[in-house]
Amino acid sequence: MKKESKFGLDVLDSKKKAKEVHDIFASVANNYDLMNDLMSLGLHRLWKERFYQMAKVKSNDIVIDIASGTGDIAINIAKKIKNIDITCLDANKNMLEICKNRTIDLGFIKNFSFMQSQIENFKKKNKFSLATLAFGLRNFTDLELGLSNIFSSLKVGGRLMIMDFKSPDNKFNKKLYELYTDNVLPKLGEIISGDQKSYQYLSDSIKTYITPEELSVLMSEVGYSKIRSEILPGDIVSIHIGYKT
Ligand SMILES: C[S@@+](CC[C@H](N)C(=O)[O-])C[C@H]1O[C@@H](n2cnc3c(N)ncnc32)[C@H](O)[C@@H]1O
Repeated sequence: MKKESKFGLDVLDSKKKAKEVHDIFASVANNYDLMNDLMSLGLHRLWKERFYQMAKVKSNDIVIDIASGTGDIAINIAKKIKNIDITCLDANKNMLEICKNRTIDLGFIKNFSFMQSQIENFKKKNKFSLATLAFGLRNFTDLELGLSNIFSSLKVGGRLMIMDFKSPDNKFNKKLYELYTDNVLPKLGEIISGDQKSYQYLSDSIKTYITPEELSVLMSEVGYSKIRSEILPGDIVSIHIGYKT
């Protein structure tokens, strides 16, 4: 594992970053779904739908949803493909607990497994045919090690789908976007969760996250092939797909 890691606008010792990220998601867990709707004006539902379409999930896929959080991606798949086998992995107990309760309420629990682990410590070999990772990579302590552990966990022919934020390319739109993420997001966090600091981190982590082009290069260096990406309308979210061949 790398010794140091980006944390918002700072660089921290890796262990400290992992703890800070853990504390942030523990703090936001209870309001996470509401905040997602408010912060994105509901758009995250459309982004997640496009992510699902691009994944072209088959009923015999063995799926791992990494950085599963409260389970939106995994639950969307389970709603559409009955009895599909899904593992939800997340470093945070509070987020995973909400995910588990949602799957119980929806009656999906028998096809779900849950694993509390940092992806950097996850060592499974050749098990999954589809790995999904939405809005999680940005928070990893070691992006390369995380992507490499996911690669090892895939069967040959398996694919990884990644979705995360990006800064708009157009300078004017970028300014507008940063006005929103720097001012509105932390304020909303303060009003809804009494937690301005966590939402400031989420906003800063978008600024220092790698670009879609850098992510394609990193995926290729780790071993993924046939990598392609799509920038969603609005130019603030990108989706990548790469295969283990
Ligand atoms: C922004 S949430 C995304 C949740 C969900 N995928 C979604 O799209 O709504 C990010 C999640 O990543 C998890 N996470 C952060 N770093 C992680 C790591 N190194 N390994 C596993 N999970 C991690 C956090 O605990 C959090 O639940």
